[in-house]
Amino acid sequence: MKSLTSVEIRKVFLDFFQSKNHLVHPPSSLIPSNDPTLLLTNSGMAQFKSYFSGESEPPSKKITTAQKCFRTTDIDEVGDSTHLTLFEMLGNFSFGDYFKIDACKWALELMTNHLGFEKDKIFISVHVDDKESVEIWKNIGIPEEKIYLFGDEDNWWGPAGDEGPCGPCSELHYYIGDKDPSSFKDLEKEDGWGPNTHEDFVELYNLVFTQFYHHIDGTRTELPNKNIDTGMGLERVATILQGKNSVYETDLFSSLISKIEKKSGFKWGSSSKNNSNLEERSADKAISVLAEHSRSATFLIADGVIPE
Ligand code: SER
Repeated sequence: MKSLTSVEIRKVFLDFFQSKNHLVHPPSSLIPSNDPTLLLTNSGMAQFKSYFSGESEPPSKKITTAQKCFRTTDIDEVGDSTHLTLFEMLGNFSFGDYFKIDACKWALELMTNHLGFEKDKIFISVHVDDKESVEIWKNIGIPEEKIYLFGDEDNWWGPAGDEGPCGPCSELHYYIGDKDPSSFKDLEKEDGWGPNTHEDFVELYNLVFTQFYHHIDGTRTELPNKNIDTGMGLERVATILQGKNSVYETDLFSSLISKIEKKSGFKWGSSSKNNSNLEERSADKAISVLAEHSRSATFLIADGVIPE
């Protein structure tokens, strides 16, 4: 697999969708504007809620962005190899333009032909009621045994905040274990092996088929248009394309990690079970948390969140 820097990954994504006639739109602040139901921008679609609902006109029916996002809900996971409070989401959006077929086709084309992921290691999750998407994935070359069905907990997205657009989603997951794809056939039958349930899979790219509006009273109505809202996690993609095991080993974190190493005297990468020094073994997690929280706090402060 070709190694790409995070700057290159972002460019490949935006250029790809620009070549499919998407407008490259600037990201919004981490503080949402005109949305009292949302504390912080948590997704690429947050700044476009009124385009999805039909309340205002988008500058283009097809948009692509690289959006800084903040998820307070993931704070307890910080320190593992994939979860961050602040992360960057690469997204493509359709406001009543293309729908499921193009969203799935382009996602696969981008992942395999442009970012260099191995098609054999891509697994798909689909909402249990969405038979149409299963057929689309099969038609574009994903074998049925690599398509896993899940309910609302895993494959329904939104709303961002207490109300807003939402819909069923389909995700592209990548196998990061060390088994050869030729052995997948037997493993696929095993309980607990597969996306969302096994640690050898990472969710990389979420395609939301935004068809509904979730109202504050809990009811849902159909939107005037069928829309697409997607999100690919830059830090997770960088981890895999740079051949690393953790977001903290990517170019996005390297300067922060080395600064913390210098200041603390501890070295990243000492958490191996073979290391008999307990203090060193727990240092990786502490270094990760420091790096993550200082990066996310910096972005929050830059956007005007003032600590009291
Ligand atoms: N809104 C969806 C998500 O955050 C896709 O962008 O995953």
